Amino acid sequence: MSNKMEPLLSHAGGEDDDPSKLPLREIPGGYGVPILSSIIDRLNFFYWQGHDEYFAARIKKYGSTVFRCNAPPGPFVAGDPRVIAVLDAKSFPVLFDNTKVEKKNIFTGTFMPSTGFTGGYRVLSYLDPSEPNHTRLKQLLFNIFAGRKAHFIPEFRRVYSQLFDDLESQLTGAGKSDFNALNDHAAFEYIFRAYFGASTAGSPLGSTGPDKATKWVLFQLAPILSLGKPWPLEELLLHTFPLPPCLLKKDYKVMFDFISSVAGDAIKEAEKLGVPRDEAVHNLLFAVCFNTYVAFKSGIPGILKYLADADPSLHARLAAEIRAAVAEEGGQVTLAAVEKMELTASVVLETFRMDPPVRYQYGKAKRDLTIESHDAAFRVRKGEVIFGYQTFATRDERVFKDGGRFVADRFVGEKGRELMKYVVWANGPHTEQASVSNKMCAGKNVGFLFARLLLVEMFLRYDTFKADVSVEPIGSRIIFKSITKAPAAAATPN
Ligand code: HEM
Repeated sequence: MSNKMEPLLSHAGGEDDDPSKLPLREIPGGYGVPILSSIIDRLNFFYWQGHDEYFAARIKKYGSTVFRCNAPPGPFVAGDPRVIAVLDAKSFPVLFDNTKVEKKNIFTGTFMPSTGFTGGYRVLSYLDPSEPNHTRLKQLLFNIFAGRKAHFIPEFRRVYSQLFDDLESQLTGAGKSDFNALNDHAAFEYIFRAYFGASTAGSPLGSTGPDKATKWVLFQLAPILSLGKPWPLEELLLHTFPLPPCLLKKDYKVMFDFISSVAGDAIKEAEKLGVPRDEAVHNLLFAVCFNTYVAFKSGIPGILKYLADADPSLHARLAAEIRAAVAEEGGQVTLAAVEKMELTASVVLETFRMDPPVRYQYGKAKRDLTIESHDAAFRVRKGEVIFGYQTFATRDERVFKDGGRFVADRFVGEKGRELMKYVVWANGPHTEQASVSNKMCAGKNVGFLFARLLLVEMFLRYDTFKADVSVEPIGSRIIFKSITKAPAAAATPN
Protein backbone atom coordinates (compact mmCIF):
# COMPACT_ATOMS: atom_id res chain seq x y z
CA MET A 1 0.00 0.00 0.00
CA SER A 2 1.16 3.48 -0.76
CA ASN A 3 2.28 5.77 2.03
CA LYS A 4 2.43 8.83 -0.15
CA MET A 5 1.10 12.19 1.03
CA GLU A 6 -1.07 14.10 -1.41
CA PRO A 7 -1.27 17.90 -1.45
CA LEU A 8 -3.86 19.75 0.57
CA LEU A 9 -7.23 18.11 0.38
CA SER A 10 -9.66 20.09 -1.63
CA HIS A 11 -13.28 19.35 -1.01
CA ALA A 12 -14.06 16.56 -3.40
CA GLY A 13 -17.81 17.06 -3.48
CA GLY A 14 -20.09 14.03 -3.55
CA GLU A 15 -21.27 12.91 -0.13
CA ASP A 16 -18.02 13.70 1.67
CA ASP A 17 -18.73 16.91 3.55
CA ASP A 18 -15.59 16.99 5.68
CA PRO A 19 -12.91 19.10 4.04
CA SER A 20 -9.59 19.01 5.87
CA LYS A 21 -6.56 21.28 5.91
CA LEU A 22 -4.29 18.33 6.55
CA PRO A 23 -2.56 16.50 3.70
CA LEU A 24 -4.72 13.71 2.31
CA ARG A 25 -3.15 10.32 2.63
CA GLU A 26 -4.33 7.01 1.32
CA ILE A 27 -5.13 4.77 4.30
CA PRO A 28 -2.12 2.47 4.64
CA GLY A 29 -2.29 -1.23 5.51
CA GLY A 30 -4.43 -3.94 4.04
CA TYR A 31 -6.26 -7.19 4.63
CA GLY A 32 -4.14 -9.83 2.90
CA VAL A 33 -5.60 -13.05 1.54
CA PRO A 34 -9.27 -13.63 2.43
CA ILE A 35 -9.88 -16.04 5.34
CA LEU A 36 -6.24 -17.15 5.72
CA SER A 37 -4.83 -13.71 6.58
CA SER A 38 -7.57 -12.91 9.02
CA ILE A 39 -7.02 -16.23 10.83
CA ILE A 40 -3.29 -15.45 11.01
CA ASP A 41 -4.11 -11.95 12.24
CA ARG A 42 -6.39 -13.41 14.91
CA LEU A 43 -3.50 -15.55 16.13
CA ASN A 44 -1.26 -12.47 16.04
CA PHE A 45 -3.81 -10.49 18.00
CA PHE A 46 -4.43 -13.03 20.75
CA TYR A 47 -1.18 -15.02 21.02
CA TRP A 48 1.79 -14.19 18.81
CA GLN A 49 1.85 -10.42 19.22
CA GLY A 50 -0.82 -9.68 21.80
CA HIS A 51 -3.33 -6.87 21.32
CA ASP A 52 -1.01 -3.96 22.22
CA GLU A 53 1.80 -5.10 19.95
CA TYR A 54 -0.67 -5.99 17.19
CA PHE A 55 -1.48 -2.30 16.91
CA ALA A 56 1.89 -0.83 17.94
CA ALA A 57 3.78 -2.84 15.30
CA ARG A 58 1.43 -1.66 12.56
CA ILE A 59 1.61 1.99 13.66
CA LYS A 60 5.38 1.70 13.27
CA LYS A 61 5.24 -0.17 9.99
CA TYR A 62 2.82 2.24 8.31
CA GLY A 63 3.98 5.42 10.07
CA SER A 64 0.33 6.13 10.80
CA THR A 65 -2.18 5.79 13.64
CA VAL A 66 -4.91 5.19 11.05
CA PHE A 67 -4.59 2.06 8.92
CA ARG A 68 -6.43 -0.90 7.46
CA CYS A 69 -6.22 -4.27 9.24
CA ASN A 70 -8.25 -7.32 10.14
CA ALA A 71 -10.07 -7.27 13.48
CA PRO A 72 -10.71 -10.37 15.53
CA PRO A 73 -12.54 -12.74 15.50
CA GLY A 74 -12.77 -13.14 11.70
CA PRO A 75 -13.88 -16.49 10.25
CA PHE A 76 -16.30 -18.09 10.91
CA VAL A 77 -17.84 -15.89 13.58
CA ALA A 78 -17.70 -12.52 11.81
CA GLY A 79 -18.81 -12.07 8.23
CA ASP A 80 -16.22 -9.42 7.38
CA PRO A 81 -13.11 -8.75 9.52
CA ARG A 82 -11.91 -5.74 7.48
CA VAL A 83 -11.68 -2.53 9.49
CA ILE A 84 -9.97 0.85 9.56
CA ALA A 85 -8.18 1.20 12.89
CA VAL A 86 -8.15 4.64 14.59
CA LEU A 87 -5.51 4.80 17.31
CA ASP A 88 -4.93 8.39 18.39
CA ALA A 89 -6.86 11.00 20.37
CA LYS A 90 -7.77 12.97 17.25
CA SER A 91 -9.16 10.29 14.95
CA PHE A 92 -10.83 8.15 17.64
CA PRO A 93 -13.76 10.56 18.37
CA VAL A 94 -15.19 9.95 14.88
CA LEU A 95 -16.75 6.94 16.60
CA PHE A 96 -18.91 9.25 18.76
CA ASP A 97 -20.34 11.24 15.87
CA ASN A 98 -23.77 9.84 15.04
CA THR A 99 -23.94 11.83 11.83
CA LYS A 100 -20.88 9.94 10.61
CA VAL A 101 -21.09 6.43 12.02
CA GLU A 102 -23.88 3.95 12.48
CA LYS A 103 -23.83 1.96 15.72
CA LYS A 104 -26.30 -0.73 14.71
CA ASN A 105 -25.39 -4.28 15.83
CA ILE A 106 -21.79 -3.26 16.42
CA PHE A 107 -21.52 -3.12 20.24
CA THR A 108 -19.26 -6.20 20.34
CA GLY A 109 -17.51 -5.49 17.03
CA THR A 110 -17.51 -7.14 13.63
CA PHE A 111 -19.83 -9.88 14.91
CA MET A 112 -23.02 -9.75 16.91
CA PRO A 113 -23.89 -12.53 19.36
CA SER A 114 -27.13 -14.36 18.62
CA THR A 115 -30.28 -12.63 19.87
CA GLY A 116 -30.98 -16.07 21.39
CA PHE A 117 -28.92 -14.73 24.33
CA THR A 118 -31.41 -11.90 24.83
CA GLY A 119 -34.82 -13.46 24.36
CA GLY A 120 -34.85 -12.86 20.61
CA TYR A 121 -34.54 -9.07 21.00
CA ARG A 122 -31.89 -6.67 19.80
CA VAL A 123 -31.29 -4.99 23.14
CA LEU A 124 -30.39 -1.32 23.64
CA SER A 125 -26.61 -1.67 23.33
CA TYR A 126 -27.04 -2.92 19.73
CA LEU A 127 -29.41 -0.15 18.61
CA ASP A 128 -28.45 2.96 16.65
CA PRO A 129 -29.88 6.24 18.01
CA SER A 130 -31.83 6.57 14.75
CA GLU A 131 -33.97 3.56 15.78
CA PRO A 132 -37.08 4.62 17.77
CA ASN A 133 -36.58 1.82 20.29
CA HIS A 134 -33.19 3.28 21.25
CA THR A 135 -34.90 6.37 22.66
CA ARG A 136 -37.53 4.39 24.58
CA LEU A 137 -35.08 1.91 26.10
CA LYS A 138 -32.44 4.46 27.03
CA GLN A 139 -35.08 6.73 28.57
CA LEU A 140 -36.23 3.75 30.60
CA LEU A 141 -32.78 3.44 32.18
CA PHE A 142 -32.57 7.18 32.82
CA ASN A 143 -35.99 7.06 34.53
CA ILE A 144 -34.98 4.10 36.69
CA PHE A 145 -31.79 5.89 37.77
CA ALA A 146 -33.69 9.12 38.51
CA GLY A 147 -36.27 7.26 40.58
CA ARG A 148 -33.70 5.27 42.56
CA LYS A 149 -30.91 7.81 43.03
CA ALA A 150 -31.57 8.35 46.74
CA HIS A 151 -30.70 4.68 47.31
CA PHE A 152 -27.41 4.50 45.45
CA ILE A 153 -25.16 5.73 48.26
CA PRO A 154 -26.80 4.09 51.32
CA GLU A 155 -27.10 0.72 49.54
CA PHE A 156 -23.49 0.93 48.39
CA ARG A 157 -22.34 1.61 51.93
CA ARG A 158 -24.43 -1.27 53.30
CA VAL A 159 -23.21 -3.84 50.78
CA TYR A 160 -19.57 -2.76 50.55
CA SER A 161 -19.12 -2.31 54.32
CA GLN A 162 -20.15 -5.99 54.56
CA LEU A 163 -17.59 -6.77 51.84
CA PHE A 164 -14.83 -5.09 53.85
CA ASP A 165 -15.98 -6.85 57.07
CA ASP A 166 -15.61 -10.17 55.21
CA LEU A 167 -12.28 -9.10 53.75
CA GLU A 168 -10.96 -8.30 57.24
CA SER A 169 -12.11 -11.70 58.59
CA GLN A 170 -10.34 -13.45 55.72
CA LEU A 171 -7.16 -11.45 56.35
CA THR A 172 -7.29 -12.41 60.03
CA GLY A 173 -7.98 -16.07 59.24
CA ALA A 174 -5.94 -16.77 56.12
CA GLY A 175 -3.59 -13.80 55.85
CA LYS A 176 -5.03 -12.89 52.46
CA SER A 177 -8.33 -12.11 50.79
CA ASP A 178 -9.41 -12.52 47.18
CA PHE A 179 -11.09 -9.16 46.54
CA ASN A 180 -12.53 -10.22 43.16
CA ALA A 181 -14.48 -13.12 44.64
CA LEU A 182 -15.99 -10.86 47.31
CA ASN A 183 -16.59 -8.06 44.80
CA ASP A 184 -18.45 -10.30 42.33
CA HIS A 185 -21.01 -11.21 45.00
CA ALA A 186 -21.21 -7.72 46.50
CA ALA A 187 -21.65 -6.12 43.06
CA PHE A 188 -24.43 -8.49 42.09
CA GLU A 189 -26.31 -7.90 45.35
CA TYR A 190 -25.70 -4.15 45.18
CA ILE A 191 -27.03 -3.74 41.65
CA PHE A 192 -30.36 -5.36 42.56
CA ARG A 193 -30.66 -3.28 45.72
CA ALA A 194 -29.73 -0.05 43.96
CA TYR A 195 -31.86 -0.46 40.82
CA PHE A 196 -34.86 -2.38 42.17
CA GLY A 197 -34.75 -2.21 45.97
CA ALA A 198 -34.50 -6.02 46.08
CA SER A 199 -32.04 -8.42 47.63
CA THR A 200 -30.83 -11.56 45.90
CA ALA A 201 -30.28 -13.22 49.29
CA GLY A 202 -32.29 -16.42 49.63
CA SER A 203 -33.42 -16.22 45.98
CA PRO A 204 -32.50 -18.70 43.23
CA LEU A 205 -29.83 -16.15 42.26
CA GLY A 206 -28.48 -15.64 45.78
CA SER A 207 -25.17 -17.48 45.58
CA THR A 208 -25.10 -18.50 41.92
CA GLY A 209 -26.09 -15.21 40.25
CA PRO A 210 -22.55 -13.92 39.64
CA ASP A 211 -21.47 -17.23 38.04
CA LYS A 212 -24.58 -17.43 35.89
CA ALA A 213 -24.13 -13.84 34.69
CA THR A 214 -20.40 -14.35 34.06
CA LYS A 215 -20.96 -17.49 32.00
CA TRP A 216 -23.69 -15.79 29.98
CA VAL A 217 -21.43 -12.79 29.27
CA LEU A 218 -18.46 -15.01 28.39
CA PHE A 219 -20.55 -16.99 25.92
CA GLN A 220 -21.35 -13.73 24.11
CA LEU A 221 -17.84 -12.27 24.25
CA ALA A 222 -15.91 -15.53 23.70
CA PRO A 223 -14.94 -14.66 20.10
CA ILE A 224 -12.98 -11.63 21.33
CA LEU A 225 -11.57 -13.04 24.57
CA SER A 226 -8.58 -15.14 25.50
CA LEU A 227 -9.00 -17.05 28.75
CA GLY A 228 -5.34 -18.04 28.98
CA LYS A 229 -5.96 -21.66 27.91
CA PRO A 230 -3.79 -23.41 25.27
CA TRP A 231 -4.33 -21.57 21.99
CA PRO A 232 -5.46 -24.48 19.79
CA LEU A 233 -8.20 -25.17 22.32
CA GLU A 234 -9.30 -21.55 22.50
CA GLU A 235 -9.21 -21.20 18.73
CA LEU A 236 -11.47 -24.20 18.33
CA LEU A 237 -13.83 -23.55 21.21
CA LEU A 238 -14.00 -19.76 21.44
CA HIS A 239 -12.87 -18.08 18.25
CA THR A 240 -13.96 -20.17 15.27
CA PHE A 241 -17.70 -20.69 15.79
CA PRO A 242 -20.20 -18.80 17.95
CA LEU A 243 -21.24 -20.57 21.15
CA PRO A 244 -24.92 -21.54 21.08
CA PRO A 245 -27.25 -19.76 23.52
CA CYS A 246 -29.33 -22.93 24.04
CA LEU A 247 -26.64 -24.26 26.43
CA LEU A 248 -27.51 -21.47 28.87
CA LYS A 249 -31.28 -21.56 28.53
CA LYS A 250 -31.87 -22.75 32.10
CA ASP A 251 -29.54 -20.18 33.71
CA TYR A 252 -31.04 -17.42 31.61
CA LYS A 253 -34.55 -18.35 32.71
CA VAL A 254 -33.52 -18.12 36.38
CA MET A 255 -32.11 -14.62 35.80
CA PHE A 256 -35.14 -13.60 33.74
CA ASP A 257 -37.68 -14.89 36.29
CA PHE A 258 -35.91 -13.16 39.16
CA ILE A 259 -35.80 -9.82 37.37
CA SER A 260 -39.48 -10.19 36.38
CA SER A 261 -40.32 -10.75 40.04
CA VAL A 262 -38.40 -7.79 41.51
CA ALA A 263 -38.52 -5.12 38.81
CA GLY A 264 -42.26 -4.32 38.99
CA ASP A 265 -41.81 -0.54 39.11
CA ALA A 266 -39.28 -0.54 36.27
CA ILE A 267 -41.56 -2.73 34.15
CA LYS A 268 -44.48 -0.35 34.73
CA GLU A 269 -42.23 2.53 33.72
CA ALA A 270 -41.31 0.61 30.54
CA GLU A 271 -44.94 0.00 29.67
CA LYS A 272 -45.63 3.73 30.09
CA LEU A 273 -42.88 4.37 27.53
CA GLY A 274 -44.42 1.86 25.14
CA VAL A 275 -42.01 -1.01 25.76
CA PRO A 276 -43.84 -4.34 26.14
CA ARG A 277 -43.18 -6.24 29.39
CA ASP A 278 -41.23 -9.15 27.86
CA GLU A 279 -38.90 -6.88 25.91
CA ALA A 280 -38.43 -4.67 28.98
CA VAL A 281 -37.31 -7.59 31.16
CA HIS A 282 -34.82 -8.86 28.57
CA ASN A 283 -33.40 -5.33 28.33
CA LEU A 284 -33.24 -4.90 32.09
CA LEU A 285 -31.46 -8.24 32.33
CA PHE A 286 -28.85 -7.05 29.85
CA ALA A 287 -28.44 -3.69 31.61
CA VAL A 288 -27.97 -5.44 34.98
CA CYS A 289 -26.07 -8.62 34.17
CA PHE A 290 -24.01 -7.34 31.23
CA ASN A 291 -23.59 -3.54 31.27
CA THR A 292 -23.51 -2.97 35.02
CA TYR A 293 -22.20 -6.26 36.37
CA VAL A 294 -19.26 -6.33 33.93
CA ALA A 295 -18.50 -2.70 34.82
CA PHE A 296 -18.22 -3.67 38.49
CA LYS A 297 -16.47 -6.96 37.83
CA SER A 298 -13.68 -5.48 35.73
CA GLY A 299 -13.78 -1.74 36.50
CA ILE A 300 -13.40 -1.87 40.27
CA PRO A 301 -10.40 -4.25 40.41
CA GLY A 302 -8.90 -2.08 37.66
CA ILE A 303 -8.91 0.91 40.02
CA LEU A 304 -7.44 -1.10 42.89
CA LYS A 305 -4.66 -2.34 40.62
CA TYR A 306 -3.25 1.18 40.27
CA LEU A 307 -3.80 1.98 43.94
CA ALA A 308 -2.06 -1.21 45.06
CA ASP A 309 0.98 -0.24 43.01
CA ALA A 310 0.93 3.41 44.12
CA ASP A 311 3.05 5.07 46.76
CA PRO A 312 1.34 4.93 50.22
CA SER A 313 1.45 8.75 50.24
CA LEU A 314 -1.33 8.65 47.61
CA HIS A 315 -3.43 6.54 49.98
CA ALA A 316 -2.83 9.14 52.71
CA ARG A 317 -3.88 12.01 50.41
CA LEU A 318 -7.02 10.17 49.32
CA ALA A 319 -7.92 9.38 52.94
CA ALA A 320 -7.44 13.02 53.94
CA GLU A 321 -9.55 14.33 51.06
CA ILE A 322 -12.36 11.82 51.54
CA ARG A 323 -12.53 12.21 55.32
CA ALA A 324 -12.51 16.01 55.13
CA ALA A 325 -15.33 16.09 52.56
CA VAL A 326 -17.42 13.66 54.61
CA ALA A 327 -16.75 15.61 57.82
CA GLU A 328 -17.98 18.79 56.10
CA GLU A 329 -21.26 16.98 55.42
CA GLY A 330 -21.69 16.19 59.12
CA GLY A 331 -20.06 12.78 58.82
CA GLN A 332 -22.42 11.56 56.08
CA VAL A 333 -21.40 10.29 52.67
CA THR A 334 -23.57 12.43 50.41
CA LEU A 335 -23.46 13.17 46.71
CA ALA A 336 -22.28 16.71 47.56
CA ALA A 337 -19.40 15.25 49.58
CA VAL A 338 -18.40 12.92 46.73
CA GLU A 339 -18.52 15.79 44.22
CA LYS A 340 -15.99 17.72 46.33
CA MET A 341 -13.41 14.90 46.09
CA GLU A 342 -11.20 16.14 43.28
CA LEU A 343 -8.27 13.77 43.77
CA THR A 344 -10.61 10.78 44.14
CA ALA A 345 -12.28 11.68 40.83
CA SER A 346 -8.88 12.16 39.22
CA VAL A 347 -7.67 8.73 40.34
CA VAL A 348 -10.76 7.06 38.89
CA LEU A 349 -10.44 8.96 35.61
CA GLU A 350 -6.74 8.24 35.38
CA THR A 351 -7.34 4.49 35.74
CA PHE A 352 -10.07 4.71 33.08
CA ARG A 353 -7.62 6.63 30.88
CA MET A 354 -4.79 4.14 31.35
CA ASP A 355 -6.96 1.04 31.00
CA PRO A 356 -10.39 1.84 29.57
CA PRO A 357 -12.71 -0.85 30.99
CA VAL A 358 -14.32 -1.23 27.53
CA ARG A 359 -11.32 -1.12 25.22
CA TYR A 360 -12.77 -1.47 21.75
CA GLN A 361 -15.37 0.62 19.97
CA TYR A 362 -16.70 0.24 16.45
CA GLY A 363 -18.85 2.21 14.01
CA LYS A 364 -19.87 1.83 10.36
CA ALA A 365 -19.37 4.89 8.10
CA LYS A 366 -22.84 6.27 7.31
CA ARG A 367 -21.49 8.08 4.26
CA ASP A 368 -18.17 8.80 2.55
CA LEU A 369 -16.22 10.83 5.08
CA THR A 370 -12.82 12.18 5.98
CA ILE A 371 -11.14 11.40 9.27
CA GLU A 372 -8.08 13.16 10.63
CA SER A 373 -5.19 11.90 12.69
CA HIS A 374 -2.76 14.49 14.09
CA ASP A 375 -0.78 14.41 10.86
CA ALA A 376 -3.01 13.52 7.93
CA ALA A 377 -6.53 13.23 6.59
CA PHE A 378 -7.95 9.95 5.29
CA ARG A 379 -10.95 9.16 3.12
CA VAL A 380 -13.28 6.47 4.39
CA ARG A 381 -15.99 5.04 2.17
CA LYS A 382 -19.63 4.57 3.18
CA GLY A 383 -20.12 1.15 4.79
CA GLU A 384 -16.52 0.70 5.95
CA VAL A 385 -16.11 -0.31 9.59
CA ILE A 386 -14.02 1.93 11.84
CA PHE A 387 -12.41 0.21 14.82
CA GLY A 388 -10.95 2.11 17.78
CA TYR A 389 -8.66 0.68 20.43
CA GLN A 390 -9.40 3.20 23.16
CA THR A 391 -6.27 2.51 25.21
CA PHE A 392 -4.12 3.98 22.43
CA ALA A 393 -6.36 7.04 22.05
CA THR A 394 -6.26 7.85 25.76
CA ARG A 395 -2.54 7.22 26.14
CA ASP A 396 -1.78 9.51 23.18
CA GLU A 397 1.37 11.47 24.09
CA ARG A 398 0.29 14.35 21.84
CA VAL A 399 -2.49 15.03 24.34
CA PHE A 400 -1.26 13.50 27.60
CA LYS A 401 2.30 14.15 28.78
CA ASP A 402 3.76 10.80 29.91
CA GLY A 403 0.62 9.20 28.51
CA GLY A 404 1.75 5.69 29.45
CA ARG A 405 2.29 6.58 33.12
CA PHE A 406 -0.30 6.62 35.90
CA VAL A 407 -0.39 10.16 37.33
CA ALA A 408 -2.91 10.26 40.18
CA ASP A 409 -3.62 13.99 40.13
CA ARG A 410 -3.56 14.45 36.36
CA PHE A 411 -7.14 15.78 36.39
CA VAL A 412 -6.88 18.01 39.47
CA GLY A 413 -7.13 21.81 39.10
CA GLU A 414 -8.14 23.93 36.14
CA LYS A 415 -5.54 22.52 33.76
CA GLY A 416 -6.44 19.01 34.82
CA ARG A 417 -10.13 19.62 34.21
CA GLU A 418 -9.35 20.79 30.67
CA LEU A 419 -7.88 17.36 29.92
CA MET A 420 -11.03 15.52 31.01
CA LYS A 421 -12.57 15.84 27.55
CA TYR A 422 -9.93 13.48 26.20
CA VAL A 423 -10.98 10.70 28.57
CA VAL A 424 -13.63 8.81 26.66
CA TRP A 425 -14.28 5.75 28.82
CA ALA A 426 -18.06 6.12 28.48
CA ASN A 427 -18.04 6.27 24.67
CA GLY A 428 -17.66 10.03 24.52
CA PRO A 429 -15.80 12.86 26.26
CA HIS A 430 -16.06 12.60 30.05
CA THR A 431 -17.22 16.24 30.04
CA GLU A 432 -20.35 15.41 28.00
CA GLN A 433 -23.60 13.76 28.97
CA ALA A 434 -25.34 10.64 27.71
CA SER A 435 -28.68 11.27 26.03
CA VAL A 436 -31.30 9.35 24.12
CA SER A 437 -29.90 10.76 20.89
CA ASN A 438 -26.29 9.67 21.36
CA LYS A 439 -24.54 6.36 22.06
CA MET A 440 -22.77 7.47 25.20
CA CYS A 441 -22.92 4.97 28.01
CA ALA A 442 -26.33 5.15 29.70
CA GLY A 443 -24.62 4.42 33.02
CA LYS A 444 -21.94 7.12 32.73
CA ASN A 445 -22.97 9.07 35.81
CA VAL A 446 -23.87 6.09 37.96
CA GLY A 447 -20.75 4.17 36.90
CA PHE A 448 -18.51 7.11 37.80
CA LEU A 449 -20.32 7.46 41.14
CA PHE A 450 -19.96 3.75 42.00
CA ALA A 451 -16.23 3.85 41.25
CA ARG A 452 -15.69 6.86 43.54
CA LEU A 453 -17.85 5.29 46.26
CA LEU A 454 -15.52 2.33 46.39
CA LEU A 455 -12.60 4.63 47.21
CA VAL A 456 -14.72 6.53 49.73
CA GLU A 457 -15.67 3.34 51.56
CA MET A 458 -12.11 2.06 51.53
CA PHE A 459 -10.40 5.19 52.75
CA LEU A 460 -12.94 5.91 55.44
CA ARG A 461 -12.01 2.50 56.86
CA TYR A 462 -8.32 2.21 56.03
CA ASP A 463 -5.28 4.45 56.01
CA THR A 464 -3.52 2.17 53.54
CA PHE A 465 -3.50 -1.38 52.19
CA LYS A 466 -1.23 -3.83 50.42
CA ALA A 467 -2.35 -6.20 47.69
CA ASP A 468 -0.91 -8.49 45.03
CA VAL A 469 -2.11 -7.80 41.50
CA SER A 470 -2.22 -10.22 38.56
CA VAL A 471 -3.72 -10.08 35.07
CA GLU A 472 -7.04 -11.83 34.37
CA PRO A 473 -8.88 -12.46 31.07
CA ILE A 474 -11.31 -9.69 32.09
CA GLY A 475 -9.34 -7.12 34.13
CA SER A 476 -7.05 -7.74 37.12
CA ARG A 477 -7.11 -10.01 40.18
CA ILE A 478 -6.52 -8.28 43.48
CA ILE A 479 -5.42 -10.31 46.50
CA PHE A 480 -5.39 -8.16 49.64
CA LYS A 481 -2.44 -8.94 51.94
CA SER A 482 -2.87 -6.34 54.66
CA ILE A 483 -4.82 -3.26 55.68
CA THR A 484 -4.05 -0.48 58.15
CA LYS A 485 -7.24 0.63 59.82
CA ALA A 486 -8.17 4.30 60.10
CA PRO A 487 -8.56 5.88 63.52
CA ALA A 488 -12.10 5.03 64.74
CA ALA A 489 -13.47 8.54 64.12
CA ALA A 490 -12.77 8.40 60.37
CA ALA A 491 -14.89 5.33 59.77
CA THR A 492 -18.32 6.95 59.78
CA PRO A 493 -21.49 4.90 60.09
CA ASN A 494 -23.98 4.80 57.20
C1 HEM B 1 -16.91 1.39 34.31
C2 HEM B 1 -18.17 1.44 33.93
C3 HEM B 1 -18.65 1.46 32.51
C4 HEM B 1 -17.94 1.59 31.35
C5 HEM B 1 -16.44 1.70 31.16
C6 HEM B 1 -18.90 1.60 30.27
C7 HEM B 1 -18.56 1.75 28.94
C8 HEM B 1 -19.46 1.81 27.90
C9 HEM B 1 -19.11 1.99 26.52
C10 HEM B 1 -17.69 2.17 25.98
C11 HEM B 1 -20.24 1.98 25.79
C12 HEM B 1 -20.39 2.12 24.28
C13 HEM B 1 -20.16 0.85 23.57
C14 HEM B 1 -20.39 1.02 22.11
O1 HEM B 1 -21.53 1.31 21.70
O2 HEM B 1 -19.44 0.90 21.33
C15 HEM B 1 -21.33 1.81 26.72
C16 HEM B 1 -22.63 1.76 26.35
C17 HEM B 1 -23.64 1.50 27.23
N1 HEM B 1 -23.53 1.34 28.59
FE1 HEM B 1 -21.86 1.50 29.71
N2 HEM B 1 -20.15 1.45 30.78
C18 HEM B 1 -20.04 1.38 32.15
C19 HEM B 1 -21.08 1.26 33.04
C20 HEM B 1 -22.39 1.12 32.70
C21 HEM B 1 -23.47 1.00 33.63
C22 HEM B 1 -23.35 1.01 35.17
C23 HEM B 1 -24.60 0.88 32.91
C24 HEM B 1 -25.96 0.74 33.50
C25 HEM B 1 -27.00 0.25 32.92
C26 HEM B 1 -24.23 0.95 31.49
C27 HEM B 1 -25.09 0.87 30.41
C28 HEM B 1 -24.76 1.07 29.10
C29 HEM B 1 -25.73 1.07 28.01
C30 HEM B 1 -27.22 0.79 28.12
C31 HEM B 1 -25.02 1.35 26.83
C32 HEM B 1 -25.60 1.54 25.42
C33 HEM B 1 -25.97 3.02 25.29
C34 HEM B 1 -26.77 3.34 24.06
O3 HEM B 1 -27.24 2.45 23.37
O4 HEM B 1 -26.97 4.54 23.78
N3 HEM B 1 -22.88 1.09 31.41
N4 HEM B 1 -20.84 1.72 27.99
